[in-house]
Amino acid sequence: MNAEFSGLTAIVTGGASGIGRAVAELLLEGGANVAVLDLNPTDAPEQALGLRCDVSDRASVDAAVEAAAQEYGGIDIVINNAGIGAQGQVDANDDDEWDRVLSVNVVSVARVTAAALPHLRRSDHAAVVNTSSVAATAGLPDRVLYSATKGAIYSMTLAMAADHVREGIRVNAVCPGTANTPWVMKGLMAKAEDPAEELRQLNARQPHGRLVEPAEVARTIVFLASPLQGSTTGTALAVDGGMQG
Ligand code: NAI
Repeated sequence: MNAEFSGLTAIVTGGASGIGRAVAELLLEGGANVAVLDLNPTDAPEQALGLRCDVSDRASVDAAVEAAAQEYGGIDIVINNAGIGAQGQVDANDDDEWDRVLSVNVVSVARVTAAALPHLRRSDHAAVVNTSSVAATAGLPDRVLYSATKGAIYSMTLAMAADHVREGIRVNAVCPGTANTPWVMKGLMAKAEDPAEELRQLNARQPHGRLVEPAEVARTIVFLASPLQGSTTGTALAVDGGMQG
């Protein structure tokens, strides 16, 4: 077994499903202690510390981050991955919806990272990886609010990397294309009359002819979080089958 993360502690938001769960599993395989901060912590991998947390609530985030630090004696790695979708053009969402999605997707990155910062400053291998999206830069139709959140995560990543480089805290992002996760599959099945045909069309719209696998995104996140990548900061890696290519 690869023990690249041995002795390190990671927190993974949204680590009970999809991409986040795949990240938690890989970090555990690599020898890390992993705390999953999620609305549904019971679905976290068995060896992880599942902590109920709403990333849109500062008190909830502060309590969960401190619980993880207490349990493992510090925090080295933060994976800001929890996120929700939003559909529609610029007139589709009211102010409450804008506030809600920005809070879950964007302000959460600041909340969780700020809560972990004192611990990251004490780590010799501090790394933050944020889950942005192809939506940050691709101009996807019917995704104005969602794209705004993912663009914000992209630019926050660059700004945070610049702020903390001298402290030895690396900050990077991944930009996945449409991935084969419960979120995407449930959405597809909910609205499609013929789910199999809908899935075939969705696959065909991807440049490489299929959805991105959560494990592929997770590998990239774990690559960026690795202590072996000590000189990689302020980058955003696409995992999108060539959508931006
Ligand atoms: P998912 O829905 O399978 O998993 C998301 C997890 O986040 C769930 O366990 C959920 O309980 C948790 N979560 C949601 N709101 C939360 C909150 N307020 N506090 C704490 N936990 C919360 O989603 P998936 O597909 O794995 O997405 C993960 C991230 O990847 C999201 O940020 C998403 O925007 C991003 N992404 C997903 C893509 C896709 O096609 N699936 C493509 C590009 C980016």
